[in-house]
Amino acid sequence: MNEVRKQEFSIVIRPMRPFDIASITLIETRIFSDPWPMVAFEEELQRDNGGFLVAESDGTVTGYIGYIISAGEAQIINVGVAPEFQRKSIAKRLISHIFEIAKKADCEYIFLDVRPSNSAAIGLYRQFGFSELYRRPGYYRFPNEDAIVMVKNLGEE
Ligand SMILES: CC(C)(COP(=O)(O)OP(=O)(O)OC[C@H]1O[C@@H](n2cnc3c(N)ncnc32)[C@H](O)[C@@H]1OP(=O)(O)O)[C@@H](O)C(=O)NCCC(=O)NCCS
Repeated sequence: MNEVRKQEFSIVIRPMRPFDIASITLIETRIFSDPWPMVAFEEELQRDNGGFLVAESDGTVTGYIGYIISAGEAQIINVGVAPEFQRKSIAKRLISHIFEIAKKADCEYIFLDVRPSNSAAIGLYRQFGFSELYRRPGYYRFPNEDAIVMVKNLGEE
């Protein structure tokens, strides 16, 4: 699966459904040191001011992204891609969808948190024009680490 190339599979982005949650939780435990439990994704299905999108390829969930829209601002609350599908622009596709959702909701800003050690994610966010706003000291656990709060001003688009 590591050798799957971009042109060998198609990706559909769609809202998360209840039957996706087992697959998402499995990916989550593989890619995060402090993964969300299954119940957290189940609770997100009830959210009326946001939700999760999944990337699906040939019936397989390969990635996901969670967002909240509140008070004219959007927040990305989680994003992950299965290890064997990374570096195939799936996260870029997911974030582009969030940009469209945020614009339709007339949001001026999109916020997110990221570990300073997560250079892959920081590189991804910088490609979309996110910049560092401030740090939350000791925000993350397992391991303990600050959070960088990043923001994108959609008015700059
Ligand atoms: C971060 C993550 C979501 C990126 O997903 P992805 O689908 O592999 O990313 P893409 O293929 O869309 O890459 C987009 C850009 O991100 C950056 N990037 C992604 N993976 C990278 C890596 N391993 N090293 C360096 N830069 C990387 C690059 O700038 C890349 O652009 P390029 O391909 O033009 O160089 C994925 O690595 C992941 O799931 N990591 C574990 C979970 C995580 O850290 N989530 C973010 C929490 S804030």
